[in-house]
Amino acid sequence: MQLANRRILLGITGSIAAYKGAELIRGLRAQGAEVQVVLTRGGAAFITPLTLQALSGRSVHANHLDAISESAMGHIDLARWSDLILIAPASANCIARLASGMADDLLTTICLVSQVPLAIAPAMNRLMWEHPATQENLARLRARGVQIFGPASGEQACGEIGPGRMLEPSELLDLTARFFAQGRLAGRSVLITGGPTREAIDPVRFISNRSSGRMAYALAAAAVKEGARVVLVSGPVDLEAPRGVERIFVESAAQMHDAIAARAPESDIFIAAAAVADYRPVAPALSKIKKDASNRQLELERTPDILAEVAAKHSARFIVGFAAETENLETNALHKLKEKRLDMVIANRVGLPDRGFDSADNEALVLWPEGGRRELPLARKESLAAELMAIIAERYDAKSQTENR
Ligand SMILES: Cc1cc2nc3c(=O)[nH]c(=O)nc-3n(C[C@H](O)[C@H](O)[C@H](O)COP(=O)(O)O)c2cc1C
Repeated sequence: MQLANRRILLGITGSIAAYKGAELIRGLRAQGAEVQVVLTRGGAAFITPLTLQALSGRSVHANHLDAISESAMGHIDLARWSDLILIAPASANCIARLASGMADDLLTTICLVSQVPLAIAPAMNRLMWEHPATQENLARLRARGVQIFGPASGEQACGEIGPGRMLEPSELLDLTARFFAQGRLAGRSVLITGGPTREAIDPVRFISNRSSGRMAYALAAAAVKEGARVVLVSGPVDLEAPRGVERIFVESAAQMHDAIAARAPESDIFIAAAAVADYRPVAPALSKIKKDASNRQLELERTPDILAEVAAKHSARFIVGFAAETENLETNALHKLKEKRLDMVIANRVGLPDRGFDSADNEALVLWPEGGRRELPLARKESLAAELMAIIAERYDAKSQTENR
């Protein structure tokens, strides 16, 4: 499943090759991608929305300036939804309109409003392809970072022979997979925990902590950018799942433990960034505890140590722990690294108003065995996450090389 959890917005335009779009959708879905088709007016002359809807499992969007479609999933939502826009086949007309930044139909409007990468698979007669206007338009798109997949050369629908044929769906599938497989963690799977847990006292009360989950979510987004498949097991937080991440919501430490036990064996890298409760009430009340005059004692027991268990069982190949400390940061983090035999520990100070828990910024001290050490200064959690992921990828490669020797 090379495209698991990837969201691909597939534009189909007015070319005779539009029928190959149907096979492409099947291939993309077989590799785990979600596919949303946007059909141009030209495209609709060659293939029906009904076929594309049946194959993609989603209603096809075709209309521009349509009140009903806009209220369901408008052009801005469609643009935000995807990880990649792939236009296959891309007609000469569509290429020209993209090159000049026009927005006179749904597909070109989405392309103009979108911030995700764009790839096009041109399909046209060889004279259309060789025309200086088309070549100039392609040069403009290339200069803007648009990926041009193909075209192939060979016999054309019109009977001519030459360049301009759309690549076969299987070749487009390979190129799409390769596009996502760029990055230092290409082909790796990363499992991350994030956020707090809630330990029930009774049906309405719980013990929890100040973790916002922002660091874990930023790490998940950074891992996707490095080309990894990412599963994020998240406690209750008010954050959107980063694009391309499979999120599993849990509430208690016990639920987080079970989710990790199920997913760790298929992961290359495990990053324990959640603030899992260390203790939970021994016997949560089944109905709401009523107040009375007396004081109350709450008996607590230890929760399972998820990180220690994954490390002891070597369920994942490379294991990263977090140490959130209010004092003796380095000593406590080193202790955690050695005691749990982790591959890396990321330590940060908590309890300060401008960093750590529930803050947009953080700093980190990264430690790994044999004296490895890197200090990362205070920065936005997103840029800190990118730096951390680069170090994780570097140390993961180093460990793999040592093991393979
Ligand atoms: C039978 C037929 C086949 C066509 N095949 C192509 C083609 O392969 N590539 C292309 O760029 N245009 C082709 N065209 C012309 C486009 O359909 C036309 O430019 C249309 O306006 C494209 O609309 P769109 O870009 O909105 O999809 C073809 C037209 C006809 C009638």
